Amino acid sequence: MAKLGAAVIGANMGAGHAVGYVNNPHTELRAVCDLNLESAQRLAAAHGAAVATANWEELLRRDDIQIVSVATPDPLHAPMTVACLEAGKHVLCEKPMALTLPECEEMIAAADRTGKLLMVGQVCRFAPGFRLTKHLIERGEIGELFFVESEYAHDYTHAVGAGNWRKDPKIKREPFVGGACHAVDLVRWIAGNMVECFAYSNHKVLTDWPVDDCTIATYKFENGVIGKVMCSIGCKRPYTMRSVFYGSKGTIISDNTSPSIQLYTQDLPTTLDWITLPVNLASHNVAAEIDELVACIVEGRPLATDGREGARTVAACRAAVESAATGKPVAVRTEF
Ligand SMILES: NC(=O)c1ccc[n+]([C@@H]2O[C@H](COP(=O)([O-])OP(=O)(O)OC[C@H]3O[C@@H](n4cnc5c(N)ncnc54)[C@H](O)[C@@H]3O)[C@@H](O)[C@H]2O)c1
Repeated sequence: MAKLGAAVIGANMGAGHAVGYVNNPHTELRAVCDLNLESAQRLAAAHGAAVATANWEELLRRDDIQIVSVATPDPLHAPMTVACLEAGKHVLCEKPMALTLPECEEMIAAADRTGKLLMVGQVCRFAPGFRLTKHLIERGEIGELFFVESEYAHDYTHAVGAGNWRKDPKIKREPFVGGACHAVDLVRWIAGNMVECFAYSNHKVLTDWPVDDCTIATYKFENGVIGKVMCSIGCKRPYTMRSVFYGSKGTIISDNTSPSIQLYTQDLPTTLDWITLPVNLASHNVAAEIDELVACIVEGRPLATDGREGARTVAACRAAVESAATGKPVAVRTEF
């Protein structure tokens, strides 16, 4: 079978996508695009891609490209994804799928219209520790879930992005949508859809940013589970997505930065005992994500993290932003 041609737009986060396409046996990285042409050229040269360009629309006209990774600032996800789908390309769009629900709807409609695959890069679903956590919960190791919590604690002081887009007041990128979508998606993936949210937020650390820098959201899930997601982009600590899953027979603590997860079950000798299960921290999670997209294309099977899944996570995040702003509980939309 001829290889599928891949292109990456956005040469920073997109660098991880490039590695994924180079290493997948069914794909060949053929083009890299970045507004900063030197960045595009550097990444293309590092991986033997023939084309480096600063004009992403050039990719739309190329017949040798079947898959495009959109790894540009969040407001560009929707227009770039829709145009790529319309040009007949499959798309892997970085998280968050988009900053607003109307944009998500446009993206879903474009995928439906064209029949091309749209995957949303909720990469935590490919982190070995979180995968093991989900597997253990599905196997019943901790009984019935009743409370889940996750946090996105990530100091953004120096992570403003090219041209400061993350703190641009015109974009108003809410950290709970742009960053905490990881933590929200994780608990949603494991515990199911949320139906209602109540949230508080404040703005005490990154006071020169145009958005609140700390939010805590509580959720009620469809199945009666309750949950909490914390997001702080001003916190002074190493990045973590520490997550705890409480079940009727045990508890799992899982993190994106620890080489193990901790499992407590009621069968252990004392309440101070934990089972420590090693996980592969060196895993290239974006490459695993790309392998899944390519397998779905090659085998003709549907994606688990498609546009509708991406949109449900954006909806749960937006409900928290709205609740914090209005001081009222907000229903979480799940139908797309
Ligand atoms: N999955 C993850 O864990 C993860 C981590 C970081 C970022 N992200 C997401 O990846 C995306 C990119 O984030 P980043 O940290 O790489 O941002 P960045 O600002 O560091 O890089 C974005 C790149 O896109 C380029 N760009 C901007 N406009 C462009 C255009 N019109 N055409 C071509 N290139 C353009 C910029 O020149 C820049 O090199 C964001 O959506 C972000 O939320 C995901």
